Amino acid sequence: MSSFHLTRTLPEDATEAALRADVLHGLTCSPTTLPPKWFYDAHGSMLFDKITELPEYYPTRAEREILAAQAPEIARATGARTLVELGSGSSEKTRLLLDALPGLHTYLPVDVSESALTQAGHFLISERPDLNIHALLADFTAPLHLPHTPGPRLVAFLGGTIGNLLPAERTAFLTSVRAWLEPSDALLLGTDLVKDESVLVAAYDDAAGVTAEFNKNVLTVVNRELGAHFDPDAFTHIALWDAEHEWIEMRLRSRTEQTVKTPALDLAVDFTEGEELRTEISAKFHEDGVRSELAAAGFDLMRWFTSPGELYGLALAAPSRSAPALRPAADRITACVR
Ligand code: SAH
Ligand code: TRP
Repeated sequence: MSSFHLTRTLPEDATEAALRADVLHGLTCSPTTLPPKWFYDAHGSMLFDKITELPEYYPTRAEREILAAQAPEIARATGARTLVELGSGSSEKTRLLLDALPGLHTYLPVDVSESALTQAGHFLISERPDLNIHALLADFTAPLHLPHTPGPRLVAFLGGTIGNLLPAERTAFLTSVRAWLEPSDALLLGTDLVKDESVLVAAYDDAAGVTAEFNKNVLTVVNRELGAHFDPDAFTHIALWDAEHEWIEMRLRSRTEQTVKTPALDLAVDFTEGEELRTEISAKFHEDGVRSELAAAGFDLMRWFTSPGELYGLALAAPSRSAPALRPAADRITACVR
């Protein structure tokens, strides 16, 4: 008998307090920033789903191709009885894994978007009446308490979302995931790969302007939640390839000189014409870098699957037998630190 259960680990006032703190920090920093998890209200989640269908946005298709080909192998290698998915969104590609795992007992999607969790959950429950679905409304970068479910557990982190974290944040994140796992558990990590700049930039600056709308949605969220007075039309969407860091950087460029007030934070932020607000990075990887970041967090890369044309990589990793390497001191957060 199937069940769908949603646990809110984010009380609404805590979310608002976190948003206030993030916005206050980000808008008083130079250059100004806004953190990415606030893109994903119901409208933002809907826009992201539209992004995944754009002709320029190849990562979703490339990852789906790998999963379609390798899900049986992943199922064989892990024998997972619980699938935990971080940043699960629509869970659309996940169905390839769910269908390949014969002994699966529980699916545990974790996301900050309640609309994404309930939509995906209700859809899955109708398709997979044999499954327990336990959705967690939670921030995967905060300490997370996973409910007790049968092992082995497979933790999937798909969509290249790991690339939205800065290098030091990735190490901290992977180290905390490692701490949840038993020796027989595994991690499945989707990573977008370094490729031709024009292909990368187009994926984050599509002709139809959906990514621009998605990027500006963060302003709408801040307006609605904190009563800020951003005019989304007064900003232009920018996607830049940073070759040194090997990441795409999303920005919003002020079209004019303007002051944006947020009375609830007693804040007035001046923008000069052309000044840029940083909203998101999306780091791109090489197999070696993925292997060493995993090793630094206490994982061994067991299998490395790539899509045709080496567009995208999917890493299957297991907790290392040896002790984790010490975190390299050079791995400092390069942007703004609190
Ligand atoms: N895995 C899906 C969705 C990727 S988009 C795919 O591959 O298509 C990133 C997802 O992560 C969104 O659903 C967003 O709501 C969620 N997300 C972003 N930051 C998060 C955070 N800090 N904690 C939990 N979920 C987060
Ligand atoms: N995880 C996605 C990625 O890095 C998120 C994403 C896609 C995104 N397009 C975006 C984030 C545009 C901000 C703006 O590919």
